[in-house]
Amino acid sequence: MRAVPADLVREIYRAGCDGRVPRLPTDLTALEDEALKAMTPAAIGYVIGNAGTGRTGRENREAFDRRRLVPRMLRDVSARDLSVTLFGQRLPVPVLLAPIASQTVLHPEGELATVRGATDAGVPVVLSTGSSHSLEEVARAAPDGQRWFQFYWPSDRAVAESLVRRAEAGGYTALVLTVDAPAFGYRPTDMDNGYLPFLHGAGLANFTSDPAFRAGLPTDADGRAVVEHWARVFGNPALSWDDLPWLRELTELPILLKGVLHPDDARRAREYGVDGLVVSNHGGRQLDGSVAALDALPVVRAAVGPDLPVLLDSGVRTGSDVLKALALGANAVLYGRPYLYGLALDGREGVAHVLRCLLADLDLALALAGCPAVADVTGDLLMPTGGEQR
Ligand code: FNR
Ligand code: LAC
Repeated sequence: MRAVPADLVREIYRAGCDGRVPRLPTDLTALEDEALKAMTPAAIGYVIGNAGTGRTGRENREAFDRRRLVPRMLRDVSARDLSVTLFGQRLPVPVLLAPIASQTVLHPEGELATVRGATDAGVPVVLSTGSSHSLEEVARAAPDGQRWFQFYWPSDRAVAESLVRRAEAGGYTALVLTVDAPAFGYRPTDMDNGYLPFLHGAGLANFTSDPAFRAGLPTDADGRAVVEHWARVFGNPALSWDDLPWLRELTELPILLKGVLHPDDARRAREYGVDGLVVSNHGGRQLDGSVAALDALPVVRAAVGPDLPVLLDSGVRTGSDVLKALALGANAVLYGRPYLYGLALDGREGVAHVLRCLLADLDLALALAGCPAVADVTGDLLMPTGGEQR
């Protein structure tokens, strides 16, 4: 049986009696500084970089910092249940790894190390369409892990269909259609380095392994021709609501839209038969100046009502952050950059370390807030002065 998350804390103190301390920081907000020392300048620009002035990235954090928890006492928290059920699927924790492209930029094993580390920690993953190992390789690397597939809808329908079929066959149990990237944002840290990982071959694996993609290439295509073909197929700025019924017809997998911030888009998504939403501003990497995801969350929740699964990402770092997101109406969160820092620092072990720390922090946060289960986290845990709409 998997150890309960807070056991990590006991293990650490016990090891301390033998003079051993953790190799990596346990402060989830201190990982970034540590990881920067292990990353190339190109990787730093890619991972840390946000759009424009970086304001939205900073505001994602400020939106969490602004809110205050008011814990409840004497509620018997001796047994805690961190699980949630979404689309009939039981997730052991209300956290999944956010989809992040091109992870070989950080570690040669890239997504293979990530998915193994996540599975070690019992955290489901959302694999990016832009992964640097194919979705089949990732599935084989951690066959017991729970996995969803993030879908960047290619401009070629045959490739789109092929990716969806492969995700189904590979045991991915939901599709997360990212809708906030008709183009990549204006990212000075990448532009100043003249660096986009895909153009260096990192993040193409789902395409180079795809029969429909390969059908569009001459058999003798060299690396440059492959990248050029990828650039034609990958983006789809013409995507619109009218395309959604095609995807709805194509697959029975639950479909979530990732990147929704406006309540009217949220309502419309529900009308189109979408199964869930991810309230997200892509970690501040897309539209500079857009609203902090956490500030948009209660508005979106109010728009769609209590039943549609709504997830949140952008700025989640600690257990208390997860609690705040749950209190504002999220069913679960996606965890982003911190696991990349674990990956950069120590591959699979680093990812597992970061996630174990997060889950221990979350488990303790639930206990200290007086919540034996995720369902006990309600809006009244937040001070009503934080600007949130309740
Ligand atoms: C991302 N994100 C992202 N999202 C997505 O839908 N598909 C993708 O391929 C990627 N790739 C990607 C690369 C990098 C380097 C980053 C940092 C982010 C966005 C990601 O899923 C998530 O929305 C953000 O990471 C959330 O912000 P924080 O919490 O990581 O700051
Ligand atoms: C990014 C894309 C890949 O944010 O989603 O870099």
